[in-house]
Amino acid sequence: MQASETSTAVAHNTKAVSDIVRKYADTILVVDAITALGVFDIKTDDWGLDVVITGSQKALMLPPGLAFVSVSDKAWKFADKAKAPKFYFNFKKERDNLLKNQTNFTSSVTLIIGLCEALRMMKKEGLENIFKRHSRLAEATRKGVQAIGLSLFPKELPSDALTAVSAPDGFDGQKIYKELREKYGITAAGGQDHLKGKIFRIAHLGYADTFDVITAISGVEMVLKGMGYKLELGKGVGAAEEVLIR
Ligand SMILES: Cc1ncc(COP(=O)(O)O)c(C=O)c1O
Repeated sequence: MQASETSTAVAHNTKAVSDIVRKYADTILVVDAITALGVFDIKTDDWGLDVVITGSQKALMLPPGLAFVSVSDKAWKFADKAKAPKFYFNFKKERDNLLKNQTNFTSSVTLIIGLCEALRMMKKEGLENIFKRHSRLAEATRKGVQAIGLSLFPKELPSDALTAVSAPDGFDGQKIYKELREKYGITAAGGQDHLKGKIFRIAHLGYADTFDVITAISGVEMVLKGMGYKLELGKGVGAAEEVLIR
């Protein structure tokens, strides 16, 4: 399962799924926490999550290129018995190497040095504060777009990693995010697959803070106004600021 589903911006209830899965000896739960770990609390051991995966390019604030995985005792037993052919993704070989302070293949040394710095920054900020920052940025983004008259795409459990916004009727979500980039240099994202054109997405995870949200909401207001959507400039920004000033 995904803990935070990036294409729809929905946070799934990982603990509830794990509470079911952990009752079965022949089943393990593999959690894609790529946009969840370091954004909101994922209690790997307490919740009995067997395999939890993240990547360097999200909350860890690095370029893409490193992946991280935790493996429970229960999952190790599955790895011991697994017969699927494997070469690169051989967890056991990786574990044997780790015990010697080595990696199975040549590791991305530059990224690991960057990771040390990212972890230093995270330790300094403190995990609880990191979760609070993400929750504050997410709330400000939601309030900001709603104040412009837009609707959130998730009807419940919106993820604190990013916000998916439904494009207003008659407006192309792809055009909204492309104009953000082309006119104002703001990187957002469109919808994927059948959501293409129907939504656009604003990320607020990792190396993100107050003025990233203000910039994004301001950009959305200006792009939409330029496309002929009726709104009062500054209303979204004001609503976001009301949250961010706290
Ligand atoms: C929840 C989730 N899973 C998987 C991926 C894919 O990660 P990668 O492109 O590093 O394979 C992403 C990337 O955005 C993601 O958000």
